[in-house]
Amino acid sequence: MSHIFPHARDCWGVDHRASSLTTTRDSAMLCADPSETQFRRQEKVYVLYPKADCALALKGYNGASMVDLQSSLLSASQPFSFVLFGASGHLAQLKIYPALYILAEKGRLPDDYALVGFARSPMTDDEFRGMVEQSIRKDLIEPNEKKLAAFLERVHYHQGNYDEEDDFAALAKKLRGLEKGWKNPVRLAYYSVPPSVFGAISENLCKGGVHEEGIPLRNIVEKPVGGDLKSFELIKKQLSSCFSDEEIYLLDHYLGKEAVRNVFYLRYANPVLERLFKNTLIEYVEITAAEPGGIEQRAGYFEHTGTFRDMFQSHLMMAMALLTMRVQHDADGFRESRANALSQLYLPPATDMDDIVLQGQYAAGTVNGKSVPGYREEQDVDPQSRTNTFAALRLMTRISRWEGVPFYLRSGKRLQKKETRISIQFQVPHAVGEGSTPNRLHVILQGEAGMRFELQTKLGGTEPVFRPLVLSDPLICFGDCLPEHGMLLLEAIHGRKQWFLSFEEVQMSWRLLDPVQSHLSKDTTALHEYPAGSMGPEAIHEWIGRDGRSWQEIA
Ligand SMILES: NC(=O)c1ccc[n+]([C@@H]2O[C@H](COP(=O)([O-])OP(=O)(O)OC[C@H]3O[C@@H](n4cnc5c(N)ncnc54)[C@H](OP(=O)(O)O)[C@@H]3O)[C@@H](O)[C@H]2O)c1
Repeated sequence: MSHIFPHARDCWGVDHRASSLTTTRDSAMLCADPSETQFRRQEKVYVLYPKADCALALKGYNGASMVDLQSSLLSASQPFSFVLFGASGHLAQLKIYPALYILAEKGRLPDDYALVGFARSPMTDDEFRGMVEQSIRKDLIEPNEKKLAAFLERVHYHQGNYDEEDDFAALAKKLRGLEKGWKNPVRLAYYSVPPSVFGAISENLCKGGVHEEGIPLRNIVEKPVGGDLKSFELIKKQLSSCFSDEEIYLLDHYLGKEAVRNVFYLRYANPVLERLFKNTLIEYVEITAAEPGGIEQRAGYFEHTGTFRDMFQSHLMMAMALLTMRVQHDADGFRESRANALSQLYLPPATDMDDIVLQGQYAAGTVNGKSVPGYREEQDVDPQSRTNTFAALRLMTRISRWEGVPFYLRSGKRLQKKETRISIQFQVPHAVGEGSTPNRLHVILQGEAGMRFELQTKLGGTEPVFRPLVLSDPLICFGDCLPEHGMLLLEAIHGRKQWFLSFEEVQMSWRLLDPVQSHLSKDTTALHEYPAGSMGPEAIHEWIGRDGRSWQEIA
């Protein structure tokens, strides 16, 4: 076996019970398969552990690297400039400044780096630093004062227009000044602006000289990439006219979440579960993304987007892909495998689109004991608005092991509780006995993240009476978990793209969902009202009930 994993022999330690295993040959054998963390020899069980600084060397498992997929083990060592377009905006303050600071506080950033905020809003360096500091203090209860001061010293502001080449030329000059004396810096340009501005930014990064010979420039582009297939194609063309695919990082923050990545790792690390994931055993799959929150002063964005575009096109499609993709050990093929899973999705044949999709909008109600207005009463929302705040969709895949299994996806705002989960219901057993229910596996991605496997066990006695046996494991963060944007930023600084989307993935997702979106946008398509604080419109029960199924509750 050692030939499979030849370079790793110095990377696994063996605990003290294995002192007799000292030869190179033995060590090489131990390293043969990174998934074998225990082995038995002469009736003793030995436990392997990966040595701390050997992470990079753990390559070669079928040409693969687990570590490439789990790259957050690393710290950034290469100097970098991080230019944030839309520096005055909501996302920047809510997520990006706190995430960058956390990386700095945890010692994940090199000595030489700079954050340059770029936006149209007039601000001095000091005013911008004040804004960045405030957003960090809002997110972290007790930041490390010394480290925060050191972080803020590296923060600068550059006022400019996204469509002014001269403003970018001045930015390039500023960056050169900041990078003086740095060894092999990289530049990151983060597009935290509406998609309508992406084209101007990428064009001027090139024309203005920010993209210069010898300094890699990585473009991190926030989802959504466009609002439909057509606008996506335009943005792709604009970005590609100046940058190669290698230089473009399409970001869906779901892919930075530990729990979402665990959908893949659960399969990767448990071949026994993997064997259960097939159409002869599975009845149906449900993916739910529920949130009690409303639109949080983002009417301008949400009115044109709606829940279906906002949640299904990227987040829920990614959950589908991670669940159904071929388990891929090779980091290089990881994105292709995900894209392939997306390419296999299709809308079930239907005479009427309403059989496949359903939409709703929240009315006034009570969420967590608090009265909240209906969507049409929210600030800056059109009182006649037909924007959906809830949607449910039935999908199928051509992947042979999942063929015939329906996937029911639903997502909504102002729902009863925060919960994102994948629930797999296995085939109903033949009349097992009183109290028996089907086996279910819930992978909970948000809310009380973790996993629950519902089995059945017979109560003692002469009668066949059953009760659930629940194997439950919360997602516990051992050591050093990072917020999703922190994880992805660190990976972008390293030039690692496994957890970023490819153009192909985004394109396939728009292509699949565009006809559904067109149907939902028609004035004649039903928009079901539901009270805030419920689990969505009543109609979704009848809708799924037509297939003889029901939405799953966690027992
Ligand atoms: N906020 C979130 O939670 C979230 C989540 C996922 C994805 N996103 C995506 O991330 C991006 C940024 O989100 P955001 O919430 O931060 O947006 P935002 O606050 O509306 O906009 C960010 C900044 O972009 C500039 N801007 C806004 N509209 C513009 C326009 N029409 N033309 C030119 N510049 C404009 C403004 O800065 P100046 O006027 O100072 O230039 C604004 O401060 C968007 O693409 C959004 O869809 C956001």
